Parts: sequence; structure tokens; C-alpha cells
Amino acid sequence: MARKKIALIGSGMIGGTLAHLAAKKEMGDIVLFDIAEGIPQGKALDLSQCGPVEGFDAKITGTNDYADIAGADVVIVTAGVPRKPGMSRDDLLGINLSVMKAVGEGIKNNCPDAFVICITNPLDAMVWALREFSGLPHNKVVGMAGVLDSARFATFLAWEFDVSVKDVNAFVLGGHGDTMVPVTSYTTINGIPVNDYAKIKGVSADRIDEIVKRTRAGGGEIVGLLKTGSAYYAPATSGIAMAEAYLGDQKRILPVAAYVDGKYGLDGLYVGVPAVIGANGIEDVVEISLSDEEKANLKVSTDAVEELLVACKALEPSLA
Ligand code: APR
Repeated sequence: MARKKIALIGSGMIGGTLAHLAAKKEMGDIVLFDIAEGIPQGKALDLSQCGPVEGFDAKITGTNDYADIAGADVVIVTAGVPRKPGMSRDDLLGINLSVMKAVGEGIKNNCPDAFVICITNPLDAMVWALREFSGLPHNKVVGMAGVLDSARFATFLAWEFDVSVKDVNAFVLGGHGDTMVPVTSYTTINGIPVNDYAKIKGVSADRIDEIVKRTRAGGGEIVGLLKTGSAYYAPATSGIAMAEAYLGDQKRILPVAAYVDGKYGLDGLYVGVPAVIGANGIEDVVEISLSDEEKANLKVSTDAVEELLVACKALEPSLA
């Protein structure tokens, strides 16, 4: 059987990390694409030379030509600009919207059967725009946010309770912004609801609230420390988990920015929800029951996403 083909649009910090992870896991042959000449080619050479040391077989190439992503099975999009200190994800809207237009057309013309994972921010608006520009079916275009946000929440909870991260199942819904909704009622420590576990361990509700707040601001905390860009290791590994779920028909239930039309009272919006990923892309969106407070928080979050779509349509009339 021919190897799978993985196209990475954007060969910056996340793109390079994605390529390294995909190669190490022998997920397929990898094409790094970027508008910057030399960057994808240089990274492809450097990463290829990891192969003999790490013992992986993967052909890694770099290109500035969309024709080279032809027939890709999976496309992961990180093209665009990342945040700098003081910027919100929404500040990236104008620049990254025009990038999504070019990328969407590149995908439409070269690999319309691919499963497309968008990582570019502001995520919920960019994945929507990318889907519109590419014209691919909604179940084949998805955004990476919830896996990362949940991983941040799980990390902080594991530190707080001094337990293995493997035993923390954390749950985040909503948009990938400061209004995201970490849902404690579905967050467990090996099946024990986190609020119960907090009581057992004498951890106050206020402390759990602080962890929720730190999760919401988790990306900004890293931007503030790095100063020159945003997080890339955890975003890349989260994108890879989604690609593996698709390529392996794993039917994993992952929190992702999926197209929601009807469920959660939403009318055709990309937003973070639990969804099943298998060989048909997004195979199901799981509608969980929420408390009134969680519902209200989700509404704030989805309203913020809707506002961004209005801004996108004003910037790019073809989206209206
Ligand atoms: N087509 C292809 N690549 C592009 C385009 C374009 N039109 N415009 C910019 N790029 C490339 C840049 O040349 C750069 O190599 O996208 C790459 C982005 O890489 P970084 O600046 O290192 O950013 P990164 O940290 O990888 O984050 C990328 O993901 O998490 C989000 O907010 C983050 O939107 C940002 C994206």
C-alpha cells in the first residue's frame, strides 16, 4: 500500500514540529509548504536528516508550489501570523483571513478529498473561512483547539492534585478564545468527578476556578513568556492526535472545532464540541447536557465566534 501523504501548509514553528512528529510516527510522506522561499526546503532537509538517527522512513520535502500537495490525505494548516505579546487571537483576523483564502483555493485545486485540520488563529473563524474558501464538505474540515485547551486544563489539574496526567480527563467546550468553557462537570480524575476529587483532597472551589482561568489564558501565558511567537509543541502534538484519529479510523471522541448545525442550539457555526473522528472525518457531534451556567458560558463563547464571522464577512465580501 502506498504511504499516506500529509501536507503541512505553513512551515513555521508549528509546521516544523508537526513534520517532526509525523515523521517520527511514520504517519506517511510529508510535504512542507510555505510562501517563504527556502524555509520549507531547509526544514525538510534538516528533518530528513533526523531519519537515520531516529530510525524513521518518511520522505520529507519542502515546496512553495501548491501543485506538490496534490492528492494529500491530510492537510494541516498553520499558515499565517502568530500572536505577539499584547495581541489577542482576534487581532490576527485580517491578515490570516487573506491567508486562508489562498490556502483554501490551494486545497480545493489540489487535494479536495483531504481531511483538513486548521490550527491558524483566530481558530473558530479561520476554520470556518477555510471551509468556505475550499468548498470541501463540512465533515472534512475541522479546527484544532479543544485537544490543546483540554491538555492545558489536564496539565494544571494533574499538577494541582499531584496525579498522573494519564488519569486526568479534562473537557473544554466553546471557542478557542478567552471565552472558552472548561467544563468541570465532565472533567474527571480517572472517572472521579473533579469537584468530588477536590473535596476529597481539600482543594477549594476557588482554587479550581483559578485553574479554569489559567486554562482560558493558557495560550497568552506562553506568548508572554516567549515574546516572539506563540506555543507550538502542544498545538502540534494536538493536531497530530486528530490526524491519527482520521488516518487510523480510530473513532476517537475529541474536543475539536467542528461544524455544528442544529445541536447545542447552533445554526451552522464552527465551535469547540466533542466529536467523533474516523475515516469519514467528523462522523458525529456529541451533544452533552449542560448546567444552566455552562449553557450561559457557552452562549457567551459562541456569540464571540459569531461576532468574528461578521467581521470576516465585512473584510471579505465573497464570504457574505
Ligand atoms: N501561505 C503559506 N504560508 C504562509 C502564508 C501563506 N499565505 N502566510 C504566512 N505563511 C507562513 C509563514 O511564512 C510562516 O512560516 O506561515 C508560517 C507561520 O509560522 P510561524 O510564524 O512560526 O507561526 P506558528 O507559531 O507556526 O503559528 C501559526 O498557528 O497557533 C496558530 O496563532 C498561531 O495563527 C498562528 C499559526
